[in-house]
Amino acid sequence: MSTFRSIEWLDEGIVRMLDQRKLPIETVYNDYENYTDLAQAIKDMVTRGAPAIAIAASYGLAITAVRSQATNVDALNSELATAMATLRASRPTAVNLFWAMDRMEEIINNPKFDSVTALKDAVLAEAHAIAEEDVETNKSIGRNAMPLVPEGATIIHHCNTGSLATMDYGTALGIIRMAHEQGKNVFALLDETRPRLQGGRLSAYELKEQGVPFKVIVDGASGHFMRRYGVDLCVVGADRVAANGDTANKIGTYNLAVVAHENGVPFYVAAPTTTIDMATKHGDEIEIEERHASEITHVRECQITPDDVEVGNPAFDITPAKYITAVITEKGVVYPPFEEGLAKLMGSEI
Ligand code: MRU
Repeated sequence: MSTFRSIEWLDEGIVRMLDQRKLPIETVYNDYENYTDLAQAIKDMVTRGAPAIAIAASYGLAITAVRSQATNVDALNSELATAMATLRASRPTAVNLFWAMDRMEEIINNPKFDSVTALKDAVLAEAHAIAEEDVETNKSIGRNAMPLVPEGATIIHHCNTGSLATMDYGTALGIIRMAHEQGKNVFALLDETRPRLQGGRLSAYELKEQGVPFKVIVDGASGHFMRRYGVDLCVVGADRVAANGDTANKIGTYNLAVVAHENGVPFYVAAPTTTIDMATKHGDEIEIEERHASEITHVRECQITPDDVEVGNPAFDITPAKYITAVITEKGVVYPPFEEGLAKLMGSEI
């Protein structure tokens, strides 16, 4: 069973990232030596997926710290604050980015790290911790999901939520992987996920490497597969889950959830608790990133629409909580009513 890391820290103060824009045609690694280039790489989706964005940005701060020429803690703090502002502005929807930056901020502001060397070491150690914890979290999500995956299940998955979207293993795709590893004889239907084809390019790449049987389908085919052949469950990731369970995820998730509801197919959201945003009451409060028109008008270099057409390209949509069967996290599975269940899980008042 293959495993790989798409984000890697090199001791000389370099972040190496697998360029996901080029997969599966080319395997190219890019090296980043400063936070501005790294923030641009997140924007350009060299790396993508909520947990991976958070990890890359944390290492963006680590590069800044390790390479800093600052001679006192105040000067280093101010360099880190500037880097953090740029990294926070890279992509708006996935809350994991802001969670990771808040966690790094606690280190940066901790008076305990009262020398340049101590602060540099602490920033790097925290970035490593954020990265490594993610792997165990994903495996726990998988373990919690196993009772929900019947033997021989056909499972629809949207976008890419695997090793490429995380530090390793993945969330929703990790569930499919774990079911396969446990010999459950599962079959995946991978939504190709227009416009950037994270399903057709990236999830297919991962499942092929892992030997999981699958078919790539166009996003609009899910209803047909449910009606004609039967689908046992859908499982998707999330970029932000609001306190009421409304979930932001890759554009097209909402359509999939509605068609699953219509066909009586359970619809699961798999996400670490770092994706749950109790400060956001419902989905309409979530900022939806609008991306460049060229993602719709072109496939790679090839133009597919007439010149100068207007394009709407929201990167995410909101699936209302009423279409979600359960949210699967590393701490447990939450069922409706989500306000209560998520508050209990997150240890917050409602
Ligand atoms: O635009 P992307 O590719 O970053 O969107 C990714 C998704 O929507 C994923 O489903 C989500 O981030 C969860 S990844 C574990």
